[in-house]
Amino acid sequence: MEKRLVKLTVNGVAHERAVAPAATLLEVLREELFLTGTKRGCDVGDCGCCTVLLDGAPVLSCLVLALEADGAEIRTIEGVANGNQLHPVQQAFVDHGAIQCGFCTPSMVLNAVHLLDTNPSPDAAAVKTCVSGTICRCTGYTKIEQAVHAAARACTKTP
Ligand code: FES
Ligand code: FES
Repeated sequence: MEKRLVKLTVNGVAHERAVAPAATLLEVLREELFLTGTKRGCDVGDCGCCTVLLDGAPVLSCLVLALEADGAEIRTIEGVANGNQLHPVQQAFVDHGAIQCGFCTPSMVLNAVHLLDTNPSPDAAAVKTCVSGTICRCTGYTKIEQAVHAAARACTKTP
């Protein structure tokens, strides 16, 4: 089928690509833009590891057609740090040992960034809900939840 032009702004950079109608946002991010921080796990919407922020909201990029994202602002894990300065969520993950193999980490971090953007003082239930959409095979989730709580405290202290 004929390719169609899609325009995406990814981490503040504008891109245009001709894509197949069935190409997913995940495929375009990884295979066209080489932003491989977004992970490809199940490819069917189960594992959560392909999460990106689309116009500020978390989506599973394996379930979004690239054409559906035409004109959108996308934020991937590559766009979370400020140069060499880790985002407070990333720093908290490091400080709390919330990363083991790291496969779930981009999604966990992006979901946590979105949570703290929308709810700066999340309670335990909100943090559990935040992390529940991504499967982590390594950590048992406790350290990830601790990291999100620590990041919330760090962000509320930041002037
Ligand atoms: S790769 Fe998208 S949910 Fe698993
Ligand atoms: S750290 Fe390995 S899957 Fe979460």
